[in-house]
Amino acid sequence: MSKTAILEIDGKKYEFPIFKGSENEEAIDIKKLRDLTGLVTLDPGYKNSGSCTSEITFLDGELGILRYRGYAIEDLAANANFLEVSYLLIFGEKPTAEILEKFENDIRKHTLVNEEMKSILDGFPKTAHPMGILAAMTSALTSFNPKSVDVDNEKDMYCAVCKTMGKFLVIATWTFRKNMGYPMNYYDNTKGYVENFMRLMFEIPTEPYKVSQTVIDALDKLFILHADHEQNCSTSTVRMVGSSHAGLFASISAGVSALWGPLHGGANQAVLEMLEEIHNNGGDTDKYLAKAKDKEDPFRLMGFGHRVYKNFDPRAKIIKKAANEVLETLGVEDPILEIARKLEAAALEDEYFKSRNLYPNVDFYSGIIYRALGIPTDMFTVMFAIGRLPGWIAQWKEMRENKEPIGRPRQIYTGSTLREFK
Ligand code: ACO
Repeated sequence: MSKTAILEIDGKKYEFPIFKGSENEEAIDIKKLRDLTGLVTLDPGYKNSGSCTSEITFLDGELGILRYRGYAIEDLAANANFLEVSYLLIFGEKPTAEILEKFENDIRKHTLVNEEMKSILDGFPKTAHPMGILAAMTSALTSFNPKSVDVDNEKDMYCAVCKTMGKFLVIATWTFRKNMGYPMNYYDNTKGYVENFMRLMFEIPTEPYKVSQTVIDALDKLFILHADHEQNCSTSTVRMVGSSHAGLFASISAGVSALWGPLHGGANQAVLEMLEEIHNNGGDTDKYLAKAKDKEDPFRLMGFGHRVYKNFDPRAKIIKKAANEVLETLGVEDPILEIARKLEAAALEDEYFKSRNLYPNVDFYSGIIYRALGIPTDMFTVMFAIGRLPGWIAQWKEMRENKEPIGRPRQIYTGSTLREFK
């Protein structure tokens, strides 16, 4: 017999089914709660509410498990590339070599961004934050591609996916070039997606540009590690906006805005800002370690601990190795990165951090890699967005294909009761 939950209100009992996921997670199905009892649940921040069922990503924060479509993140980071993982997330299955090649070629067909988009870019002040520009430019793509996606038509959906993957990467790098005063760059269809990212960012017309395979591999991994994280704030936003049948670009643009918030995508930026602060104040890591442990001091060691992963961050384990390889290959000598190394070593040996399971999270190492590659701090969240794009698309697609209803939470009104306006 399937399990149920009994709720008793004013002596009356109501029975609700318990829904079980494929990894044995259980949820009380309260779809009929209001109809049966007249009551709703109150759960700000949705910490106890499943907003959907999903077949895309499984994570277990206690055990440090992250899987996309059933594949362990460790396996994917070691054996797949970013576009392969993107295909897997979006379409549900690992692509064959042939399908992957077609996917890459089809994305290439959509890497040209309408020249008129440049005049929109020109309108932004030089001081504008790249995430603000990225959100606006992604939204503007809707006007240049006004036809809405027919989600019931496989071909149409596939084309929309390729278009989004192609154009988003280009405009993401344009936000940086605008800030640097560089001429806008175009995708080179003879090169791979991640290599193109580096070219699009850093290649200038006056000299040849070459990027090392170690850097491409590290970025490939970083994008894979960020590609999806189930129903986080930006992903839930993408699903919520898309649930009104808003277009894919508009929904992704909303996701970019959600990711921009310092409580979400801004963590790796916060790591670098902290390291710079330590450096500017003499580089005394012991002092900052002591501050982090002092309960009277609000200072926290940025990049340590995680809201979901309570024992270790599986992504951090993978990227730590890549960070070391990048630093070695590039031969970077940077006092900020030295401070990061010292801080990491000291914290990993410190009883306070050990006893609370506070390990460096993925943002700690990603910030270090980005800095070593010459990516400015305010572009870090844009890097996160590039990595998260396939996850947003996959979640949007799943939500539409499942014909989920428009998102419309309830509230409990606590304002004034009726009064007269004189
Ligand atoms: N530095 C020093 N002490 C810390 C840190 C830290 N970074 N993180 C947690 N602690 C301490 C807490 O003070 C608490 O100590 P106590 O048990 O003596 O009271 C204990 O460790 C448990 O911490 P919580 O605050 O309960 O952990 P929570 O899950 O609420 O917070 C969080 C997680 C917000 C990520 C926190 O670890 C933190 O602020 N980290 C630094 C910021 C950061 O890197 N954020 C990005 C993480 S990615 C993400 O969350 C999406």
